[in-house]
Amino acid sequence: MSTREQRMEWFRHDRFGMFIHWGLYAIPARGEWVRNQEEIPDEVYRPLADEFNPVDYNPAEWAKLAKQAGMKYAVLTAKHHDGYCLFDSQYTDFKSTNSPCKRDLVREFLDAFRAEGLKVGLYYSLLDWNHPDFPADSRHAMRNHPEARAGAQFDRYLDYMHAQVRELMTNYGRIDLLWADFSYPEHTGEDWRATELVRMVRSLQPHILMNSRLESSGEELGSIMTDTPTETSGDFTCPEQIIPPQGLRTPSGCKVPWECCCTMNNNWGYAADDNEYKSADFLIRRLVECVSKDGNMILNVGPNARGVIPERQQQILREIGQWMALNGESIYGCGACDLPKPEWGRLTQKGDTIYAHILEQPMCAISLPGMAGKGKDARRLADGAEAFIVKSWVTQSYPDDLFISLDRGGVRTVLLPETPDYVIKFTKC
Ligand code: GLC
Repeated sequence: MSTREQRMEWFRHDRFGMFIHWGLYAIPARGEWVRNQEEIPDEVYRPLADEFNPVDYNPAEWAKLAKQAGMKYAVLTAKHHDGYCLFDSQYTDFKSTNSPCKRDLVREFLDAFRAEGLKVGLYYSLLDWNHPDFPADSRHAMRNHPEARAGAQFDRYLDYMHAQVRELMTNYGRIDLLWADFSYPEHTGEDWRATELVRMVRSLQPHILMNSRLESSGEELGSIMTDTPTETSGDFTCPEQIIPPQGLRTPSGCKVPWECCCTMNNNWGYAADDNEYKSADFLIRRLVECVSKDGNMILNVGPNARGVIPERQQQILREIGQWMALNGESIYGCGACDLPKPEWGRLTQKGDTIYAHILEQPMCAISLPGMAGKGKDARRLADGAEAFIVKSWVTQSYPDDLFISLDRGGVRTVLLPETPDYVIKFTKC
């Protein structure tokens, strides 16, 4: 096993994580890009820090919610593009410990999630719309007012950014994952002094997983997609708001580890009026889709300015949790199946066990082409009850296929209980 594979073992096993986008932008409550989209000037945005006071922030509740949903790791925005730090950095005043709440929100998050046995990660924005040395480039909130960043010296910003990452990697115990965000034509790879940064991070946290965005973004996936990834390629890549149609492989066919990051509505940061939510059923099926293609899913929540995860998001997570409690076995430790995707659903696999995720009510049975005689011990996952490998007068015209039914005789239509995804497992033989 390569070092990367060893590091990646828990991540490949756990499959499902919580993303948390939280910061000052919860006050305007129009998403985390609000400062940029509305070109909010420094003198209007910065004072939000004098107001930020999430009195209801209780990370122990967040951690319980994540755990109940079946999530195994969580990643919090320590600093997003607006530059506001949820941790007590000695290199800036623009931080939560200087806001009315006076709390190191990152430290509390880490403690609470670790206490629930979850792996912990931090998101850190490479962009910084607040720092005077980050030039007003095309992605900057002040792009139409370059004078606001006159005299910016990017190298000084890089010193700051590296120093903050060092703080996060030094002062907060074991960090399982660092989620850097993001590169774009003006700044990518060595513009961030990426090799130096990666070496520093890995020397302080040797087991840590890093994503690919020191050289990529939601738009492109980085050198990890090639057969010769750079030292800064990261351990996994991050398709955003899309599940790769065929999973991801390098040109020579090696599987590339990936994590689909996605939102429940259409914003990462809290957006008070964005009620366009995906359903729990839909998200469960998308998680299954990720695993069936060898990927992870990190699903986002956007807590509000009081520190509360919106009730609708909590409800969705609780519903996902109900399904995961009974069917998590078909997710954890599972990956793509070596059989083709069946027309009635999807397959995940762990060793010789194949999980048939039935998304469409079958007539008499589900079929697995070419698998006749190659399956045994079919069980319904949610209750452990027997399911049946059948051959009947209705299946006999398809002698090469394996048929699995809830009807012992393999003829009747047994209606599946109402569930987003009914799972039957069987052993390949
Ligand atoms: C993006 C956005 C951002 C979000 C992130 C999550 O690149 O800039 O707001 O944090 O993706 O994947």
